Amino acid sequence: MEAVESHELLCRTAWRAEWPEPELDADRLNATVRGDEELLCIAFTNLLGNAMKYAPDGGGICIGGEVEGGCAEVRVSDSGIGIQAQDLARVFDRYFRAEGAKAAGSGLGLYLVRQIVELHGGTIRAESAPGQGTRMIVRLPLSARETSA
Ligand SMILES: Nc1ncnc2c1ncn2[C@@H]1O[C@H](COP(=O)(O)OP(=O)(O)OP(=O)(O)O)[C@@H](O)[C@H]1O
Ligand SMILES: [Mg+2]
Repeated sequence: MEAVESHELLCRTAWRAEWPEPELDADRLNATVRGDEELLCIAFTNLLGNAMKYAPDGGGICIGGEVEGGCAEVRVSDSGIGIQAQDLARVFDRYFRAEGAKAAGSGLGLYLVRQIVELHGGTIRAESAPGQGTRMIVRLPLSARETSA
């Protein structure tokens, strides 16, 4: 486990995902978490990859966050097809794909993301509605040094 600077992590994620509009709303995310930077980058790259895949017009994608309640809260939002209420809890299950999902995929991405987030003592949840876009909210505990500062 190493000290991971969250703003830098998101910049690297945007670059790795080849996000065409790397605009980060992360000025308030000046925080360090303890973890494996490579694994965290894989997790956020998956979330950004989903946003680009399920919001194919590319508009409305945003990564941002802030420090809140001893955690770095990172939100990846899109204005894409959204997720039905009954699927919201299931999207993190292994091999789950929403019925009629047209874009290619195996249904493993979010399962992996949740494993990585939980390995870091964090949580992930989805807020979405069909046609209303999706917001994935990840909370990662700040490193001990940071919370005692
Ligand atoms: N941003 C999103 N907008 C709408 N639906 C989403 C979004 N992210 C995930 N989903 C839904 O949740 C399902 C599971 O997502 P997950 O990332 O695990 O799999 P995938 O993208 O289908 O495949 P993989 O990531 O393994 O290539 C998707 O198939 C899709 O139905
Ligand atoms: Mg995916």
